[in-house]
Amino acid sequence: MEVKTSLLDNMIGVGDMVLLEPLSEDSFLENLKKRFEHNEIYTYIGSVVISMNPYRSLPIYTPEKVEEYRNRNFYELSPHIYALADEAYRSLRDQDKDQCILITGESGAGKTEASKLVMSYVAAVCGKGQEVNKVKEQLLQSNPVLEAFGNAKTVRNDNSSRFGKYMDIEFDFKGDPLGGVISNYLLEKSRVVKQPRGERNFHIFYQLLSGASDETLKKLKLDRDFSKYNYLSLDSASVSGVDDAANFRTVRNAMQIVGFMEDEVQSVLQLVAAVLKLGNIEFKPESRSNGLDESRVKDKNDLKEMCELLGIEQSVLERAFSYRTVEAKSEKVSTTLNVAQAYYARDALAKNLYSRLFSWLVTRINESIKAQAKTRHKVMGVLDIYGFEIFEDNSFEQFIINYCNEKLQQIFIELTLREEQEEYIREGIEWTNIEYFNNAVICDLIENNKNGILAMLDEECLRPGTVTDETFLDKLNMICAQHQHFESRLSKNSKFLTDHSLPHNCFRIQHYAGKVLYRAEGFVDKNNDLLYRDLSQAMYKANHGLIKQLFPEGSPAKINLKRPPTAGYQFKASVGTLMRNLQTKNPNYIRCIKPNDKKSSHIFTESLVCHQVRYLGLMENVRVRRAGYAFRQAYEPCLERYKMLCKKTWPHWKGPARKGVEVLMSDLKVPAEEYAYGRSKIFIRNPKTLFFLEERRRQCLQDLATLIQKIYRGWKCRRQFLLMKKSQVVVAAWYRRYAQQKKYLKIKHATTVMQSFARGWQARKLLRQLKHQKRCEEAATTIAAYWHGTQARRELRRLKEEARRKHAVAVIWAYWQGLKVRREYRKFFRANAGKKIYNFTVQRIIQKYFLNLKKNLPSMSPVDKSWPSRPYSFLDGVHAELRRIFHLWRCKKYRSQFTEEKKAVYEEKLEASTLFKDKKALYPSSVSQSFKGDYLEINKNPKYQKLHSAVDEKVLLADTVSKINRANGKGSPRIFLLTKKSVVLADQKSGQVKASVPLLDLASVSVSTQNDGFFALKLKEGSSSAVKGDFLLSSERLIEIITKLYRLSATNADRVPLNVDISDEFLVQFKNDKVCVKFIQGSPRNGSGASCKRKNNRLLEVSVPSTA
Ligand SMILES: Nc1ncnc2c1ncn2[C@@H]1O[C@H](COP(=O)(O)OP(=O)(O)O)[C@@H](O)[C@H]1O
Ligand SMILES: [Mg+2]
Repeated sequence: MEVKTSLLDNMIGVGDMVLLEPLSEDSFLENLKKRFEHNEIYTYIGSVVISMNPYRSLPIYTPEKVEEYRNRNFYELSPHIYALADEAYRSLRDQDKDQCILITGESGAGKTEASKLVMSYVAAVCGKGQEVNKVKEQLLQSNPVLEAFGNAKTVRNDNSSRFGKYMDIEFDFKGDPLGGVISNYLLEKSRVVKQPRGERNFHIFYQLLSGASDETLKKLKLDRDFSKYNYLSLDSASVSGVDDAANFRTVRNAMQIVGFMEDEVQSVLQLVAAVLKLGNIEFKPESRSNGLDESRVKDKNDLKEMCELLGIEQSVLERAFSYRTVEAKSEKVSTTLNVAQAYYARDALAKNLYSRLFSWLVTRINESIKAQAKTRHKVMGVLDIYGFEIFEDNSFEQFIINYCNEKLQQIFIELTLREEQEEYIREGIEWTNIEYFNNAVICDLIENNKNGILAMLDEECLRPGTVTDETFLDKLNMICAQHQHFESRLSKNSKFLTDHSLPHNCFRIQHYAGKVLYRAEGFVDKNNDLLYRDLSQAMYKANHGLIKQLFPEGSPAKINLKRPPTAGYQFKASVGTLMRNLQTKNPNYIRCIKPNDKKSSHIFTESLVCHQVRYLGLMENVRVRRAGYAFRQAYEPCLERYKMLCKKTWPHWKGPARKGVEVLMSDLKVPAEEYAYGRSKIFIRNPKTLFFLEERRRQCLQDLATLIQKIYRGWKCRRQFLLMKKSQVVVAAWYRRYAQQKKYLKIKHATTVMQSFARGWQARKLLRQLKHQKRCEEAATTIAAYWHGTQARRELRRLKEEARRKHAVAVIWAYWQGLKVRREYRKFFRANAGKKIYNFTVQRIIQKYFLNLKKNLPSMSPVDKSWPSRPYSFLDGVHAELRRIFHLWRCKKYRSQFTEEKKAVYEEKLEASTLFKDKKALYPSSVSQSFKGDYLEINKNPKYQKLHSAVDEKVLLADTVSKINRANGKGSPRIFLLTKKSVVLADQKSGQVKASVPLLDLASVSVSTQNDGFFALKLKEGSSSAVKGDFLLSSERLIEIITKLYRLSATNADRVPLNVDISDEFLVQFKNDKVCVKFIQGSPRNGSGASCKRKNNRLLEVSVPSTA
């Protein structure tokens, strides 16, 4: 349960008097002294702050300090006025409780400074913004203005507030300041005309004279020299450490910030100047006939100047200082004033002028700083009222001031001591009564409506007849004699009869803070606060806006015979209002103590402090705190605040709040003596315990915040993750698609390339084949075309020539005819008839020609060479052309009748012509022969059946040839068979196959140019058939055989066409040797054909009979 706090750590003495051990007045003072000596000027008694005036500036009001105390627990840090201000401000802002800060203490104890510190702290921590800053600035700047006019140097304090001030600062729900209201209480106006020894008048007089520019002073008709003014005491005109001139500038600036207009400031300064002038007006007696002295203004210069300043008619004011008009019912009696009365009137005017000016200033400031918005607001009141005063010579003012302090003490007692005890009783908490002095009796002595001192003073003032201070004292002596706190020499109470410290013209009151001896002199006057009506009327007549406002009772329309309320009555009423106001608010106490009477920073006058501690009731305060409990709170808010500290109460507690708090406390193992359960509240004895709870709560809140943060962060991250995951899937899908697409395209492209290569290759192969085929076809066609072409052209040339000649003849003839006809008929025809006749004639001729031609067309046989002769030579070309066309058409017709076989026969014939025409003399004889092929009718003739079956291919040619014997050149008959694949030689008689040579083994065929049937079949060297050697054969159908062989080789795709060698000398390979076959022209044919003879080993000679 040990909780470390800054309040308790490293402490000088103890920070909270409640923790003082042992508790006695000595230890209390010792603690204060120790702390004071270590510059610890603040000490707590529970929530009350004791503040010792350090009389020097300490570095504890810096912005860093403000931050340090901001939003911190009250007991968390070492005691400071900021902790109290923070507590009050937060309680106002967060719990919606109006606050008041009650600052009490003697004059010079540091109340005003404390109030400024509180205000500046609140200004520093509350909201910011242009509007808010303006409000703050105005609130803060109201201080220098009021201090200049309401503070003065006294023997106790160089800057003593001579008025009471209560300021309500208003905040909105956010805690931003909205504005404020200042109430002022009884300015000590007697100071305007007279100051005790060693004291000064109000600061403003000195500030104006030292700080204003020469020009301003001239305008105000003032002189810078203080000594020129009667109202300014001279012995302490300047205060050490105070720069009046600089302060004047500060005040002017502050007035501007608060919102004073320049003409308002001028008016105020004029009034201040007027007061100074007023003090300089002096009077002299002037004897009157009735023997009485009448006062006269001595030197009228000051009067004149003052009247000029305020716009008053000099004579009016002058008269008001010499006469006084007393109105009784309807009568008006004018009496003269003696010199003393004139001085009294002058001073009364000065005091009234100044105090009314001061009140006007407060009203004017309020106008500026009042909250603009009409919304509900929270209020923090700061009370800085003059402290308890005991002077050598105490008068009405001290009486009033001390009465006010009595009331404040009363409210302190009410709220802290009595309330506390009563609450314990109410709550049923065991309580040992603490004796304390209740000053209610003193308050009663002063303010009792029936026989209180103020009531009696009023009674005296209002009583007809002679009223003096003595009569007032007599009355007091009579009525209050029995009162314990009232002492007077002449009272019935005999024990004071011999008390020489008690003069006859005085009375003494035992205030809570000590006995004060009051001189009765002046009480009646001051209470009456009389200002002769002539004076107020004179003021009202002034040609000066502000003065007029200040003296409304001077208005003739407002003649009021009723006496104005007395000063005492007014004060009592306003104090009453103040007390009621304070009671509605949550009080925060600052109890100021001055350490010495010398304004010294290092002296701790024990007796003086002890006295203050006693009358402030601080010891009782501590005792009550210690006997009782430092902290209490209703169960509901307590449970609400701390329920998170226990699992059973968090997050919801179902039962009654008290039970919940009990569970909570036992769960937290708080020692039983540390708390007590009241009827509606829990009481916690020690602040430590409270702080322990607070600390636990803070930690718990942190943990909860961390938990929330954790869950939130987790949720956020998860969301982010899921989003990313989703996106990643999309991205991946897209990427894969893209990659696959790319891959596919690549493959597709490659496939296309490969395909195109393969197709290209195939196509080229096919193209090659087709081209070859086509070339072959084209070659045949071209050859035929050239052949036909040549023939046709030759024919055409001839025909053309013929036609030309005929045409020439016709033309000549026609011309001749025409000439003749024209000669003959010239005389009958007109010029162009000749041409028509010519055309007609030509047409007729052509018509006749066509008809004739049709009739005489030759036969359809292509070999028919007949053609009708031409009738006219001019038709020569046409005639030949028509013959050609007709022949072509006839040939086409003829060809179209051909069967496939016949076509093949003709193709063969054509081939034979290509091979042999004009190359071999045998050829012409073959043209008329039809190429029959099978001359032996091999498949019909039973003789050749065996042979036929031996040859499995279709036989293309079968004939009998003679095979030339290589030895003697004699021929022996052989059957020659040609199939698609081979050449077969067989015995003529037996039909037995002698040799079968595959066509592939044939290298070439050699024939002579002569009219013979010899041919050599040459075999390819190295082939299987070549072993036996080449064949030398002879046949009459040589042309047909060679042509067929050639054609077979040409149609065979994988063979080169057979080479046909036509020459009269060629080599034949017989077995191992080569034999030359030579053809020679023999004698003319004599029956037999060509004969062959072996000449030698190397020569075979063939003699061919000549054809001639
Ligand atoms: N907290 C403080 N720090 C420094 N000086 C202080 C402090 N409080 C008071 N004083 C000094 O004491 C003087 C009197 O204080 P003041 O507040 O005017 O007294 P009071 O208002 O109680 O009469 C101030 O002028 C100032 O010099
Ligand atoms: Mg003060």
